[in-house]
Amino acid sequence: MAEFETVIYQKENGVGYITLNRPRVLNAYNIQMRDELYQVLGAIRDDPEVRVGILRGAGERAFCAGADLSEFLTAPSPIIAREVRWERDVWGLFLSIDKPLICALHGYVLGSGLEMALLCDIRVASEDAQFGVPEMGLGIIPAAGGSQTLPRVIGQGHSLEMLLSGRWVKAEEAYRLKLVNRVVPREELWPTVEKLANEVKAHSPLALSLAKQAISRGLDMSLEEGLELEARLGGRLLAGLRSDKANQPEQTGPE
Ligand code: COA
Repeated sequence: MAEFETVIYQKENGVGYITLNRPRVLNAYNIQMRDELYQVLGAIRDDPEVRVGILRGAGERAFCAGADLSEFLTAPSPIIAREVRWERDVWGLFLSIDKPLICALHGYVLGSGLEMALLCDIRVASEDAQFGVPEMGLGIIPAAGGSQTLPRVIGQGHSLEMLLSGRWVKAEEAYRLKLVNRVVPREELWPTVEKLANEVKAHSPLALSLAKQAISRGLDMSLEEGLELEARLGGRLLAGLRSDKANQPEQTGPE
């Protein structure tokens, strides 16, 4: 895969590591990052060797401090700046990935940084992480799915408070709100995420993908529809297991 400037992509032992790599500007999300992330996410989705993805931020200070404000301010208008971002559906691409995505969050996790984290399946934060949705202060609303994903994760009231007041939330509170799954000391962040990825990766890729679909898609359904979805996906898994078994060579040797 091509070398990128704003993102580092590495593949090791079935794990695809995506590192947002603009540490000088706290990994702010700019158009180049949008394009590079689009390619990397496509690779994670389509490469059968990748079984789990990890998303993290380079540098000491931030996972991602949100949309690159310098681009916002130099674009002909905030409207055009927003439209440019919509030209590539990075957020839709995140959601189209049936493989588990784990996010390692440290330092500032703001705006689209938080929204990217919300598009992952498991969020692990370090004790220094701070979360915020600063869009109101800029006179805009979230555009990377945050108005939909945040309430699905922490509920309506807390989402409205974070968005409408612009108040930032520290790691411990984020844990209480269930915005993150775990909080660990900073030096344990990457090892924890790596260990988690290895535990997840040990399972069958098909079962992982179907389990992720059952929960993620089921959340937007009634219980009845969700149960039907679970039965359908379970049926697919069993059919796959049966045909695998049928295709296996006969066992020979002592009974
Ligand atoms: N877009 C572009 N550059 C950004 C950025 C962003 N979203 N966030 C930080 N940076 C840059 C700063 O301009 C600064 O660059 P410089 O050294 O060339 O001046 C560098 O990153 C370090 O940030 P700085 O503001 O000096 O650090 P700080 O510790 O004083 O403050 C923040 C950190 C996160 C509180 C502050 O940078 C901030 O409020 N950023 C904007 C957050 C935001 O509104 N994001 C958009 C959401 S839609």
